[in-house]
Amino acid sequence: MSIFDILETRRSIRQYQDTPVEPEKLRQILEAMRLCPSARNMQDWKFFAVTDPAVKERIAAATGASPAMIAGAPVVLVAAGNNDRVMNCGHRCCSVDLTIAMTAGVLAATELGLGSCLVGSHDEETVREALGLPEGWHVPLISPLGYPAESPAPRPRKAFDEVAEIR
Ligand SMILES: Cc1cc2nc3c(=O)[nH]c(=O)nc-3n(C[C@H](O)[C@H](O)[C@H](O)COP(=O)(O)O)c2cc1C
Repeated sequence: MSIFDILETRRSIRQYQDTPVEPEKLRQILEAMRLCPSARNMQDWKFFAVTDPAVKERIAAATGASPAMIAGAPVVLVAAGNNDRVMNCGHRCCSVDLTIAMTAGVLAATELGLGSCLVGSHDEETVREALGLPEGWHVPLISPLGYPAESPAPRPRKAFDEVAEIR
């Protein structure tokens, strides 16, 4: 698929088949994340494709809005980072870097026929502890991953002219 097809066909998937995800596909997704840009190229991050049911359960329990979606997926994708630097624009590098990496991860997943759903409703501390990461590590986004068990219609988007302009 071209990047434009991927952007058009990706959906947030909240129901997954039990079919395990091939390790090679997980490696490709983690590799897509590893190749992402980061502020000052610091790469203060770690990426995880979690398949261990016990760890997934702990992450699911930490996910306020959608625990069933996390627990029901064969994999949970996590990007964690420990860079506390704030850029001149006022935003934390870590949040921006990890969001870029997670976006690459879910787009790569789409290319590989896998569903995903970016999730920010988790308790960061609990996810950090579930992964055995030291204090100070941040986890702004996680995502379930797996073969979709639903085909949702596209969610509406604001009209081009409402949100974009060439000036
Ligand atoms: C930063 C961010 C946080 C999100 N958090 C959640 C979440 O906690 N639970 C959930 O079910 N979906 C979550 N979503 C998914 C959005 O609801 C979804 O992307 C949006 O409704 C558009 O649907 P689409 O992804 O199918 O195009 C999140 C998406 C983003 C970008």
